[in-house]
Amino acid sequence: MANDILKFLRDKEYVSGEVLAQKLGISRVAVWKQIQKLKNMEYKIISDQNLGYCLVSRPDLLLPQEIQRGLSTNYVGKEIYYFPELKSTNIMAKEKALHGAEGISEGTLIVAGRQSAGKGRLGREWFSPVGGIWFSVILYPQLSPSYISRITLMTAVAVVKAIKICTQIKSQIKWPNDILINEKKVCGILTEMSAELDIINWVVVGIGINVNIDLREFPEDIQENTISLKETSGKEISRVKLAQTFLQEFEKYYEILKRREFSSILKEWKLYSHTLGKKIRVDIGERIITGEAVDINEEGSLILKKEDGELVEIISGTIT
Ligand code: BTN
Repeated sequence: MANDILKFLRDKEYVSGEVLAQKLGISRVAVWKQIQKLKNMEYKIISDQNLGYCLVSRPDLLLPQEIQRGLSTNYVGKEIYYFPELKSTNIMAKEKALHGAEGISEGTLIVAGRQSAGKGRLGREWFSPVGGIWFSVILYPQLSPSYISRITLMTAVAVVKAIKICTQIKSQIKWPNDILINEKKVCGILTEMSAELDIINWVVVGIGINVNIDLREFPEDIQENTISLKETSGKEISRVKLAQTFLQEFEKYYEILKRREFSSILKEWKLYSHTLGKKIRVDIGERIITGEAVDINEEGSLILKKEDGELVEIISGTIT
């Protein structure tokens, strides 16, 4: 109901309580109650006895109605579940994808105001206070499980593009899934899936972007290697605008991927790469390989040239 009132409230213009009551078929007292609810959600609404209610400003919260206002995607973000606090949006998204596949459509978004147990790669914790973008997209791609790395890479390209469009800030991708600004991490991507031998059942792509977070808020041990968009640009960034832009870019690239035209995405990935051409050490679990990052192949694997000239293909690993 509070959402319905929002549809009739006008930015910076008064609408009378009577008109709202009539349009929604409820009493004026009920209207007043819904207005209080909206105020609690950080909508700034002023009221005048004669003129009614006027919406002064909207919160920069990733509420479904805020993200969806002006979102021009066909299906990504058309269904949104928002939680002020969650353990992890990936955990919630996986539960939804697992148990509710029939009712949960492709592109459904799980959003949290903050995460109490945000998940990073390799079982690491992901610090997720209020002020960031923490969300997960549920997908059902009819692709082979080998596409999982490509989904992560295309997500990274969508993040870089969205950051550039909204803030003018140039970021770079550290293979496979870190987005860096000035060598420091501003965003991480955690892609998880359930698959049979040759087909994916579902994919959950979790995206965490440090948006309006002060450096001092981060735990000391990660402060040195972490950055936020607010710290970089010196001002608050609209999370709603950034989320919308990301979802639009994400859907665009996902469509390209589904048409099996990954090579055009890879071209862009390479433009934004922080990794290629560098001498690096990659931890692949059982050992560490050292060499020069010479290429990313059509499967999204990293090609490393060792000191002795041998080329090694790395499907998954962490650059140390
Ligand atoms: C990494 O770089 O280690 C990946 C970090 C991924 C963090 C995001 S925040 C939203 C989603 N929910 C989680 O629990 N993790 C991902």
